[in-house]
Amino acid sequence: MNILVLGSGGREHTFAWKIAQSNRCKGLFVAPGNSGTEAIATNLNIGVTDFEAIKVAVLEHKINIVVVGPEDPLVQGIHDFFLQDEALKGVAVIGPQQAAAELEGSKEFAKEFMMRHNIPTAAYESFTKANVEAGYKFLETLKPPYVLKADGLAAGKGVLILNDLDDAKAELKSMLVDAKFGEASTKVVIEEFLDGIELSCFVLTDGKDYKVLPTAKDYKRIGEGDTGLNTGGMGAISPVPFATEAFLDKIENQIVKPTVEGLKKDNLPYVGFIFIGLIKVGDDPKVIEYNVRMGDPETEVVLPRLKTDIVEVFEAMANQTLKDVTITIDERAATTVMLVSGGYPEAYEKGKEITGVETLTDSIAFHAGAISKEGKTVTSGGRVMAITSYGDTYNEAIKKSYQSIENLHFDKMYYRKDIGFDL
Ligand code: AMP
Ligand code: GLY
Repeated sequence: MNILVLGSGGREHTFAWKIAQSNRCKGLFVAPGNSGTEAIATNLNIGVTDFEAIKVAVLEHKINIVVVGPEDPLVQGIHDFFLQDEALKGVAVIGPQQAAAELEGSKEFAKEFMMRHNIPTAAYESFTKANVEAGYKFLETLKPPYVLKADGLAAGKGVLILNDLDDAKAELKSMLVDAKFGEASTKVVIEEFLDGIELSCFVLTDGKDYKVLPTAKDYKRIGEGDTGLNTGGMGAISPVPFATEAFLDKIENQIVKPTVEGLKKDNLPYVGFIFIGLIKVGDDPKVIEYNVRMGDPETEVVLPRLKTDIVEVFEAMANQTLKDVTITIDERAATTVMLVSGGYPEAYEKGKEITGVETLTDSIAFHAGAISKEGKTVTSGGRVMAITSYGDTYNEAIKKSYQSIENLHFDKMYYRKDIGFDL
């Protein structure tokens, strides 16, 4: 089995790390990859949406399975591209087809899907430039805070939460009339604010059956105590301690089952990961978003807890025999702490040498924005490295990550010292 992973973050390094442990995998490639994947696989210098170049590489390296890390190629139809190509149609793609990827590609599409299948979520209405006045009126009927969501992909920045009605109206205008998020905010979903604690649930599906993976919680804000700007994620914990057996049952029965059934009823072809963003409101889970991929940094705590051979899982997904696979989960907790470049998520410098990684014994360093240059590992992005550890409790695991970080250095390195503080 030859496998290609698309992407270059901590998520993709974790996929490659897990795949490399399988004796079913002969050749492992990552495009474009990073310094972490380079050490365990062959990096290919190809962008994740350059479908023609991906095709050439898949044929040259006789790839059997393509695992798509980020959402962009999925929303742009990479799975469909493979199915429509004579030479590629036998290659398995882990990731939904374009029609189903709209669950992440369009917030309105996701809301309509949830309404159609009675999946609990926030009440909403959507607006365009043509009815912006109706949007102002709708805002007047809501209580603060106001939640505005650009319909399309906006690199994780398309959700605004505002306390003041006039600010909310001004932002709505800026999104719809002044194209604040470009094409992505041609339409805006305004929704009811849900007050509660967030967690994420991960599901594998082959389009017929599903398997639930462990829950995780990520920490999105740059500052301690969940303050400051939103980031791609500063750390994560799995499992989520407040997700009791009874609560997990609710998630499965009220959300996971109707989601997988809904995909079938709506003819949305889905072989891949479903990442369901949830808020626990009182004792009940409500969906805030679907993503059609794994989360980052959630992958860095979820996959290390998967004991089952992941290649076996991918093969079963491709062959639609997922129901025959037993998913075994490590009982230990896993946590990860993200090391980021000073200044992130705003402007930051790159090219800083990272030292100490080879000294880690109690943690795993999943590389993200890091590349090899002249024999050194240097920073190449905002999120640089995720330091994952196991523990009998999440506190023990976090402690190990923080101890490991003591040995790691790069100029202007920053990380949150309070991952798990709210649990
Ligand atoms: P999303 O990009 O949809 O994940 O939204 C970004 C963040 O906004 C989420 O992680 C939540 O913290 C928050 N959020 C989104 N929708 C709501 C909502 N209806 N009520 C409260 N918070 C929300
Ligand atoms: N950590 C959130 C995401 O991957 O979207």
